[in-house]
Amino acid sequence: MEPVPHPGWPARLGWGPVELHPLRRRDAGEWSRLRSANEDWLRPWEPTSTQPWAVRHSPAAYRVMRRALARRARAGISVPFAVRVEGRLAGQVTVDNVVRGALRSGWLGYWVDREVAGRGMASLAVALVCDHAFTEMGLHRLQADIRPENGPSQRLVERLGFTREGLLRRYLDIDGEWRDHLAYALLAEDLPGGALARWREHAGR
Ligand SMILES: CC(C)(COP(=O)(O)OP(=O)(O)OC[C@H]1O[C@@H](n2cnc3c(N)ncnc32)[C@H](O)[C@@H]1OP(=O)(O)O)[C@@H](O)C(=O)NCCC(=O)NCCS
Repeated sequence: MEPVPHPGWPARLGWGPVELHPLRRRDAGEWSRLRSANEDWLRPWEPTSTQPWAVRHSPAAYRVMRRALARRARAGISVPFAVRVEGRLAGQVTVDNVVRGALRSGWLGYWVDREVAGRGMASLAVALVCDHAFTEMGLHRLQADIRPENGPSQRLVERLGFTREGLLRRYLDIDGEWRDHLAYALLAEDLPGGALARWREHAGR
């Protein structure tokens, strides 16, 4: 029998009002409207591009991104999720650059609609993906690289139990410049009860 190329993919995850699933073709219009409405909110944390925001976030751009992510997912490099809150598309969480062998690591990326932020929904979505990564995907380490200016993102990973491991100098080309990033990581053994349990503890649910 062929070995499973990418354990943990495809998958649907959910708890309470948050649901995660693979990106769907029919979400192109909703994604494009959401990303366009959130330009000021997202731009400081996005990779530098010579293309205008509207072009990068058209329904056609979604279809190109979705195909590229699906190829990476099939190759075992990525696990990309759309996030829904109360049924409405509200963001994305992706485990990307998955490396297996002795490292068994992946990098986390995430964003949510400004309208949804500040309610703990992003950290719930990330918690569900962390638990999936350490169980079904069989990873040992998740890394999140965060600009020192991004307070909400640092608070999110710290609440979930990530450790700040260091400063990566001029690490990523973001919003027009090489930007310093703080390297945060969570190891499978850091949260014996899992990330969802940690989120629930914090949320009192
Ligand atoms: C980073 C980002 C996802 C964080 O979203 P968020 O909604 O602030 O994160 P959380 O889901 O953890 O919500 C936390 C806030 O909700 C509040 N909250 C309310 N109910 C909560 C609950 N049940 N559980 C946790 N937090 C709750 C918290 O007090 C917290 O507010 P505070 O940070 O001011 O103390 C969001 O700011 C974003 O999408 N930014 C743009 C893109 C981006 O920066 N991506 C990451 C690049 S590294």
